[in-house]
Amino acid sequence: MTLFHAVGQQSWLFLVELLIGGFVLYLYLFNIRPATPKIRNLPELPGWRPFWGHLKQLGSDHSTKLQQLSIKHNIPVFQCLFGNQRIIFINSYEAANEWFIKNQSVLKDRPVFYTFHKLVSTSQGLTIGTSPWNDECKRRRLNVQRYMTTPAIQERAGLIDVEVYSLLRDMYRDTQVESCYPYPYTQRLALNFTTMLCYATRFDDIKNSLLEQILSIVRVISSFRSTNQNFQDFIPFLRFLPENSRRKAALHSSKTRDEWLTKLTNEALNHKDSRPSIVGDFAKDTETSRLNLDDVKSICVGLVSGGFETVGSTSALIMAQLVSEKGPEWQEKIYNECLAHYSSVQEAWGKVLLEQKCEFSNSFIRELLRMYAVIPLLPARKTIKSFTWNGASIPAGETVILNAQAANHDKSRFGPTADEFMPERFLNDPDIDVPPYHFTFGAGSRACTAVNLSVRILYVILTRTCMAFTVRKDASRQVNTDYIGFAQDRTAQTNWPKDFGVYLEPRDPKTVDACFSQSKMNCQELLSYSIEYDK
Ligand code: HEM
Ligand SMILES: *[C@@H]1O[C@H](CO)[C@@H](O)[C@H](O)[C@H]1NC(C)=O
Ligand SMILES: *[C@@H]1O[C@H](CO)[C@@H](O)[C@H](O)[C@H]1NC(C)=O
Ligand SMILES: *[C@@H]1O[C@H](CO)[C@@H](O)[C@H](O)[C@H]1NC(C)=O
Repeated sequence: MTLFHAVGQQSWLFLVELLIGGFVLYLYLFNIRPATPKIRNLPELPGWRPFWGHLKQLGSDHSTKLQQLSIKHNIPVFQCLFGNQRIIFINSYEAANEWFIKNQSVLKDRPVFYTFHKLVSTSQGLTIGTSPWNDECKRRRLNVQRYMTTPAIQERAGLIDVEVYSLLRDMYRDTQVESCYPYPYTQRLALNFTTMLCYATRFDDIKNSLLEQILSIVRVISSFRSTNQNFQDFIPFLRFLPENSRRKAALHSSKTRDEWLTKLTNEALNHKDSRPSIVGDFAKDTETSRLNLDDVKSICVGLVSGGFETVGSTSALIMAQLVSEKGPEWQEKIYNECLAHYSSVQEAWGKVLLEQKCEFSNSFIRELLRMYAVIPLLPARKTIKSFTWNGASIPAGETVILNAQAANHDKSRFGPTADEFMPERFLNDPDIDVPPYHFTFGAGSRACTAVNLSVRILYVILTRTCMAFTVRKDASRQVNTDYIGFAQDRTAQTNWPKDFGVYLEPRDPKTVDACFSQSKMNCQELLSYSIEYDK
């Protein structure tokens, strides 16, 4: 009747053995044995362990540990195993240049990861930054580039104007009572900016609950892209463990994200004739761009998630450097530089939106980006064809990750001062003042599409802050400017600064008023696009 009686004891035991044997074989084949063979002539990290591969020794701060191991063993490029997945890490400036720029056609693809791709991104489709290389991704990337040219940035100067004005207005207002931690303010700037660009909607109330929800969801979602919070990506049997709370969180976050993205997209479609936005442009122009609504939605999710944490974090780091030991000196230099190029603060206030004439300030931003690789391990790439490097033949289909933090702090490129913040570094040394300068935006075929736009935003924040205010530190909330120690959470994919306090003091209250009214007048229209779901 039952299976037991039907097959008899002998065969029953055999069945059990078969099952156990099968399970062991499964563990071996799909969890312990590397998924791809070892690459000959390419150094491998020591310290392999079953199931973990090399993961265990990397601790919680993968980029720093990999950087240290690379220096210790003197191997800029090495292969290692995360679980059973082979990954090639690039840790020096020169090697990054060779792989990501000289051989950029090889690294166009991106691999698919279990957590991010199968759990989080299912309903919305893949964004440009997470998609493998295919026609869809290519078409979307090309369309985004139309918004990132110098004239396009010029056209959107009003967006930068309104957000930098609101940033300084609010920080100034709030620091009259007590010092402020700039990060929440710069996060809002970044989110406002990208949502305005994409959907022509901004958040004008700091306590907006939709805004708070978005901020927390974006953080959760980005944690699923981090290499050290997602062991199920590399150790397949963890996926079968019951009650995986991360899995639940992933599904929940992706559902909530879809809800607010749909809200914002619909809002933009309603306003498409009166407010310029990417959604609106594409909806009006489906013929020439050959994009459908899914493309448009996906492009915008990609821009909002790509720009939000990175710009927010880097902008806050400007403030961090301005209150460092030499900060006051640099502030004076930037103030004087602005006045050297323009006849008055008020003139400069408007002009910095359109041109980047101040060389010390440009160098400051370049150095800031080099110093802080806010995405220390860049999102993974995949080789699309085989190529040879230093006698090793790298096959197609290998995962490659650039350790931007390590490349940016490579002493053989930047010398013994590589770990110091020296704003005049690029100004003084023509040998290093050549693109890509640093790898904070990635490089080559899948580099960040918004490099010039981001640099412009940072430049406006820096120059406007220094020409209108002096930024003072709060001695009771000291800043940490170390390129590793600055980060609040070293396990996150995108790093942001720990708490510190600043005060803004107007250099001349009348000038500040005049500048503020100038921006306010120019941006009446944009300010009216604020979203007020709560009220
Ligand atoms: C300081 C600011 C920023 C930093 C540090 C940054 C950094 C990065 C990095 C490291 C990548 C991956 C590059 C690679 O794999 O080589 C990337 C990709 C991308 N970023 Fe940015 N980003 C910033 C701002 C922005 C902004 C403001 C936007 C949009 C408005 C944006 C949109 C994108 C997109 C669409 C991609 C995907 C490119 C692709 O895979 O083809 N980023 N960014
Ligand atoms: C990779 O870069 C090297 C050095 O520039 C070059 O000689 C080689 O042809 C490149 N290979 C591919 C496949 O792009
Ligand atoms: C970005 O700016 C640099 C110089 O500032 C320029 O050479 C480059 O063409 C710009 N990139 C784009 C996409 O416009
Ligand atoms: C962006 O939105 C916030 C409210 O969420 C608003 O107070 C602010 O003026 C806007 N700009 C900046 C830079 O914060």
